Amino acid sequence: MARAYAEPKLIVASHNKGKLVEIADLLSRFAVETVGADALGLPEPEETGDTFIANAELKALAAATKAGLPALSDDSGLAVDALDGAPGIYSARWAETANGRDFDFAMHKIEMALHQKGDVPRTARFICALTLAWPDGHVESFEGKVEGTLVWPMRGKNGFGYDPIFLPLGGDMTFGEMEPAAKHAMSHRADAFTQLVDACFVGQGG
Ligand code: IMP
Repeated sequence: MARAYAEPKLIVASHNKGKLVEIADLLSRFAVETVGADALGLPEPEETGDTFIANAELKALAAATKAGLPALSDDSGLAVDALDGAPGIYSARWAETANGRDFDFAMHKIEMALHQKGDVPRTARFICALTLAWPDGHVESFEGKVEGTLVWPMRGKNGFGYDPIFLPLGGDMTFGEMEPAAKHAMSHRADAFTQLVDACFVGQGG
């Protein structure tokens, strides 16, 4: 049985503005005050894990033990079937340039890699691991996903990261074209979040 969440204040252990906004939105129906890791001056630990869950756990634990408050972290990314699951846990790293992260560059890189493979399926999924960690070292982790295909060229200016090339299964708008509420209703983060709420926020709000 998962540990129930019962504290009034929660750290969102992420330095990614897009994720912070989405997580605050998902948590808005609960009586929980959220504070970002940046606002507390918490350092961003190195992501040395080799799975989404391992990285989510190390980020949430680092924040919770340092700040003495429970922390929620997200480790997520895009896995492309024809690229053997890449960029996967390296989704942020694929966007690194000499001038910081550039997701236009990362999306071009994916398109080039697919082009080099020739006539291959363009199926992909977003995966999200969410970890809730307590200062005593206890963790609860959940993994969600959303299936789709990759379009080219990019479409839409909403969302963040790889949203403009991701067309969810059965849809006709990319995550970059969808209204935030529509994306949040079906995303990998929403899937993981529903699992977390069912396990740890039983009987609270919403
Ligand atoms: P990390 O979890 O901080 O290592 O970063 C994961 C990267 O995956 C993000 O920087 C985004 O580029 C990408 N990513 C994760 N979730 C989404 C999403 O909902 N939309 C678009 N890109 C995402």
